[in-house]
Order: sequence, then C-alpha cells, then structure tokens
Amino acid sequence: MSQDGTTRRVVRALRQVGLYERARQVRRGVARLEVTERSISMIARVSPTGAAALDWLQPSKHSSWGGPMNGQAGRQRLIRELVRIVDVAAVVETGTYRGTTTEFLWHLTGRPVFSVESERRSFEYAKRRFARNESVQLSLSDSRIFLQRLVDNDEVPKKTVLFYLDAHWGADLPLRDELVIIAQHWSDPIIVIDDFAVPGDPGYGFDDYGEGRSLTLDYLPPNAIEDMVVLFPSLPSRLETGARRGCAVLVERTRELDLSSLSLRHATVT
Ligand SMILES: C[S@@+](CC[C@H](N)C(=O)[O-])C[C@H]1O[C@@H](n2cnc3c(N)ncnc32)[C@H](O)[C@@H]1O
Repeated sequence: MSQDGTTRRVVRALRQVGLYERARQVRRGVARLEVTERSISMIARVSPTGAAALDWLQPSKHSSWGGPMNGQAGRQRLIRELVRIVDVAAVVETGTYRGTTTEFLWHLTGRPVFSVESERRSFEYAKRRFARNESVQLSLSDSRIFLQRLVDNDEVPKKTVLFYLDAHWGADLPLRDELVIIAQHWSDPIIVIDDFAVPGDPGYGFDDYGEGRSLTLDYLPPNAIEDMVVLFPSLPSRLETGARRGCAVLVERTRELDLSSLSLRHATVT
C-alpha cells in the first residue's frame, strides 16, 4: 500500500478509537505516523489492518522474537542441516505471527511455504511482507481448519513435508489435533515443534498451560506418533543463543538413520 493509503488507514483507525486530534495531526502531516504501542493495541481492536499498517512502519517489528526461530542460532543451524539432508517438498508452518520464521524457511528451502495465523493483525502484517512472493501462501484461520483444507488441496504435497508447529499461544492449544491430522494425511513428515521441553536440559524453555497442557513428551498423542521417533537438540542450552526455547523433531522411524549426523538425540541418553 502507498504511503497515502497507509496515512488514510491510520487516520481512520485513530478516529475510530476516539483519537480525533491525533488523527487531524497525522492527516495534516504535523504528527508522524508513529504512535505508541498502547494506541496501536487500541486501534487493533477496531482496525487490525490499520494496526498492522502501523506495525509495518516500525523496522524493529520485522524481526520478531530476535530473528527466525526465536533468534536461536543453534536451531537455525539444525534446520539448515536437516534441509540439506532431506529434500523437503514443501513447508507448512502453524503460527505465522509476523512471518520472520516463514521468510527464513522459504529462503532456506526454496519450496512453497503454507503458513497459517489466527489473528488478523499479525496476518495483515505478514501479508504485506510476502505481497510479492507467490511461493508463500498465507491463511487467516485456525490451524486445525487450515491443515484440514491443505489435506483437500491437491496442489499441496502429501509426502516429505517440513512442518514447523508454532501456533501455541494462550488458552487454546491446537498442537495435539495438528499432529493427529498430519499423521493421518502425510507420509514421511518432518515435524518440528517449537517451545517443547527438552528432557534433561532445563535451560531450554517450553510452553506450559497447566495440567495436561504442557509441551512435554506426555502431551504427544500416542496413537498418532506410534511409527515416529521423537528427537531433541543435543546442543546444550547454554550454547544456544536467542530465547533458548526447546524443540522436538518427529520423524518416521525409517528416517532416523538419515538424520544421524545432526545434533539430535533421544529423550534419554544411553
Ligand atoms: C509464537 S507465535 C509464532 C511465531 C512465529 N512462528 C515466528 O517464529 O516468528 C504464535 C502465533 O500463533 C498464532 N496462533 C495461536 N493459536 C493459533 C491457532 N489455533 N491457529 C493459528 N494460529 C494460531 C498466534 O496468534 C501467534 O501469532
């Protein structure tokens, strides 16, 4: 969108939340487009698109969480090596947010990337980011509905797809359903789950939403993953950078040998 289009959208959004004087100043060019985070959050309630336009004007928001994969150099290296070994046909990400990891995965694989985000403000931001990139297809939806739609879409490869599951944020936890859908409909999936507890290394953070809803081995649906192995980063958390969030990598047993050169290990070290 042009600067004028952005200005119009911001002025409209400011008016909608009652910031009339501010809207007048922005329209007359007296005030700059930047507004406080609090105002953007207010605007987001009535105009997620307007809020996304304001987010877009702030360069610091382009690299959310300190860079791709929570700014973790070890994780980035792991995924880079994984993609060198496994020729993935496509990438599916749940939880686009502002598209930082989406962009990394697209650059890395050169394959079509399908990503889903449930919040309009983040979705609109990511839409701007990939406006000229037809290889990145974004959806505004719940991740379960999105995956089910991919199942029915013949253009989406159903074999050797890299899944980056990162749509866990708040009360609703779609991960178990996501895993069931993937296991039912894709063969040879390579699944990376962000924010997962790494057994034996408490330095890695993980998501815990209370009883039965913490991202640990117990959370995984046993039937869906019975033919899979669950692997964890062998890089000690103290050598990781960025947010030091844990992850789990799930692959079919027949794939395990291929990944033996990667910095991955089982839950228990034998
Ligand atoms: C941790 S952020 C994702 C970060 C992003 N993958 C990255 O690395 O920059 C989680 C995102 O998932 C979204 N989300 C939460 N629940 C979702 C759901 N059920 N379906 C789709 N997206 C969801 C949130 O709105 C949020 O933007």
